[in-house]
Amino acid sequence: MERRVISGSIDTVFEFDYSVQAEDMRGLYEKAKRDQWNASRDVTWNAPATDDGRVLSDELIDIYGSPIWERLSERERVDLNRRIAAWRLSVLVYGEQGAMLACSQMVDIVTGTDQKFFQATQVADEARHNEVLERYLETRLDGLHYPMPENERVLFDSILTDRRWYVKTIALQLVAETFAVSMFKMMGEAAVDPVLKEICRRILQDESRHMGFGMLALPSVVNEASTAERQEMEDYTCMALEKVLTGFFPLEAYQDAGFSKAQIDEVRRHRREVAAHNDYAVYRKYFRRDMHASMVNNLARIGLLTERVRPRLAALGVELPTAA
Ligand SMILES: [Fe+2]
Ligand SMILES: [Fe+2]
Repeated sequence: MERRVISGSIDTVFEFDYSVQAEDMRGLYEKAKRDQWNASRDVTWNAPATDDGRVLSDELIDIYGSPIWERLSERERVDLNRRIAAWRLSVLVYGEQGAMLACSQMVDIVTGTDQKFFQATQVADEARHNEVLERYLETRLDGLHYPMPENERVLFDSILTDRRWYVKTIALQLVAETFAVSMFKMMGEAAVDPVLKEICRRILQDESRHMGFGMLALPSVVNEASTAERQEMEDYTCMALEKVLTGFFPLEAYQDAGFSKAQIDEVRRHRREVAAHNDYAVYRKYFRRDMHASMVNNLARIGLLTERVRPRLAALGVELPTAA
């Protein structure tokens, strides 16, 4: 099997004080222990699949309702439905592996026993997410997998090679995981396969803790940073946002579904038009609103996005809250 070796070095901090120092962080750790679930025991893997083989509502397919869509046969629509789902879930499965690795580094780097304990639980959470999504692809989508998109690889290379925990946290717990949460919410709502719905719901229970880590751990770092350090963090936040908000086109899914180059160009054009009038696609609209509420507002609240980067965000279609 293919694997990727990423070289780097990190500092391991060995703590000797195991008393509670950060009560909120210890509380998050307690919740993590209490709310563990097990994909082998708690997911109804033998629930019947849908009669037609769809796993998501067709509305989640970018070209739904377009002239290209109207020309597809029922069999082609079902095939595309499954391939697009597998493409999105492949992206998420790599994200879970990357999150597990990044958090295992953070167990080493973070100072404070409360922070280390919490990160240790996140390592286990992400391993379970990696496991459950892989199992879904294997058992419900015929083992369909798609390659890791370039933007995702670049983002994780950066997360996994930076030596500073707060840089990892900005990109992982605040940007990438909020993006993943929006994806899981959207897929959970649009799932027609009950197993997919259940998996998304369970993963989401864990993800709110992970974002909680960022929201608890980062404000003091941002507050104590010099102007230059703050700007570096802000630029890094923007880079991470650019990576997650652009470049996720399920090209290989369309290719495997038999779309020609001309048809794929038509799909891309349609996507651009939809993005320009963003009131068209129901789920895309929901997704954006959700991303804004949970990501951009949080980042702005802790001082990681300021007026300085308003134009850079606008280029991504992201509007900074005016209070920031
Ligand atoms: Fe996860
Ligand atoms: Fe997570």
